[in-house]
Amino acid sequence: MSKNRVSRRQFLNYTLMGVGGFMAAGMMMPMVRFAVDPVLKAGAEGDFIATKVKVADITNEPQRVDFNFDQKDAWYESEVTGTAWVYKNENGEIIALSPVCKHLGCTVDWNADKKNPNMFFCPCHYGLYEKDGTNVPGTPPLAPLDVYPHQEKDGILYLGKAQPRGGA
Ligand code: FES
Repeated sequence: MSKNRVSRRQFLNYTLMGVGGFMAAGMMMPMVRFAVDPVLKAGAEGDFIATKVKVADITNEPQRVDFNFDQKDAWYESEVTGTAWVYKNENGEIIALSPVCKHLGCTVDWNADKKNPNMFFCPCHYGLYEKDGTNVPGTPPLAPLDVYPHQEKDGILYLGKAQPRGGA
């Protein structure tokens, strides 16, 4: 008889541990899946959200557009208000800019600084952006304002998720 022979007791132990392990894994998998599922779910980044703005009403003067959407943050769902600065450029193209300052995240305003008219102005640290969202060198922001992709459906402006552009 070989020295490595498995005793009946050892064989039973191994078998029970194996079967027990399979059963435990079978019970744990749905629980683990339930726990992490919202985190793994792909976000709805391709979604466009309807605003209340008619494309025909957009002028070349930036206007503040607020829009509401449901945001799912893992297990927590809430209604969020987004904001964009929207106008038509000299070619008649719609430009939708994020109001979030690229310095430290304050909200920029259009034409709010008397010394720098017709520019986006961030009051927190005197950040300045051109009308097209380009950051003015020498002011704190180091990148242009993010841009919302947009669509027109039935004459209404829809906005996607704001995307960053390259630095100036
Ligand atoms: S947060 Fe806008 S300039 Fe600092």
